[in-house]
Amino acid sequence: MITDKKPTIIPITELEQSAFCRSDETLDVKPLAQEFAASVRWQDIPVEYLHMEGSELTERIGKARRILGNNLVILGHHYQREEVIQFADVRGDSFKLAEHAASLSDAEFVVFCGVHFMAETADILTSPSQNIILPNLTAGCSMADMASTEDVLDCWDDLNTLLGDDGIMPITYMNSTADIKALCGRNNGIVCTSSNAQRVMDWAFQRSKRILFLPDQHLGRNTALKMGVKLEDMVVWNPFKILGGNTEDSIKNAKVILWQGHCSVHTRFNLNQINKARETYPDVNVIVHPECTMEVVQSADFNGSTEYIIKTINEANSGSNWAVGTEISLVNRLAKENPDKLVFCLDSVVCPCSTMYRIHPAYLLWVLEQLVDGNVINQIQVDGNTAAQSRIALERMLTLA
Ligand code: 13P
Ligand code: SF4
Repeated sequence: MITDKKPTIIPITELEQSAFCRSDETLDVKPLAQEFAASVRWQDIPVEYLHMEGSELTERIGKARRILGNNLVILGHHYQREEVIQFADVRGDSFKLAEHAASLSDAEFVVFCGVHFMAETADILTSPSQNIILPNLTAGCSMADMASTEDVLDCWDDLNTLLGDDGIMPITYMNSTADIKALCGRNNGIVCTSSNAQRVMDWAFQRSKRILFLPDQHLGRNTALKMGVKLEDMVVWNPFKILGGNTEDSIKNAKVILWQGHCSVHTRFNLNQINKARETYPDVNVIVHPECTMEVVQSADFNGSTEYIIKTINEANSGSNWAVGTEISLVNRLAKENPDKLVFCLDSVVCPCSTMYRIHPAYLLWVLEQLVDGNVINQIQVDGNTAAQSRIALERMLTLA
């Protein structure tokens, strides 16, 4: 049992999150040397890639891609830049991309244009002979970084010491490290994504009276509320406080224990932005991702995963108006692909996810040209034991879907 309060640690990825926010520019790709000016950590890359213009990068990526043929699959998350996602063989939200990775058997190389936890998941779900490559190793996720393995193991020990046989099941959102998925795998737990969180929570409540939901408190709270769990039956676990900042009784009485993590991109959205959108366009439809706060999700007309947001807007009536609360690269793409509708971001500041944004096309080109030369760089490999345990939790989710 943890008996001392720990100093609060804010992940570097969280501190860097607003590095690419701008109010006066587009997100069109610039040579990497210019983008290095944003004060974030970038992976070192050979100098020749630093000054290439977008058009040269596009041409050379296309060439390397053609040479690599069927040996290569490029997966792209919807939040990737335009100049990168255009090369994705499959685009998807984190669930669709995990499902696709699990179905890949031929490709020797899988380049994952997304963030670290997604590439780890692809490695866990593919065969050992397949190589998963993340173009820029500094593309992490600030939410995943809010749940360190050590803190989560401490929390799990504390909860088990307190609750004994009274029951608790861990559920981790896909946006977490392989170590945390492994903890779920070996403790009868499961993984979820924003596409299936409700189904997963329902599965969990059929087996346990209590859930520890990691690491996104907002997805956990929004999902539990949709299932009829009352707000007073949930507590938040602050990893820097004794017993997460709770009393023994409040934990014993809780149905859901929410890890105190959040997405820095989705918590930018607020009620003022929704009110302003509704004042400007009285017939506007507000659609948001469930990583947004409870107030935003409850005030919105629709909420769901990125795949759900795309489907809803693509299928909407011509002439309809959409204010969207999710990552800006996806919102811009939806606006471009739906010219018959008005699609705009709830937040007027252009603020991409700074880790997704680190997959600059120069990094994609670098890893592809290395593959053409026979070198596998930036490979993501999860150790065998962790992979085996996390695969159990991932497969529970994939079987449910
Ligand atoms: P989904 O892809 O599951 O919608 O999640 C969004 C996200 O924030 C990924 O990091
Ligand atoms: Fe992480 Fe949020 Fe970025 Fe997704 S959008 S990768 S949850 S910081």
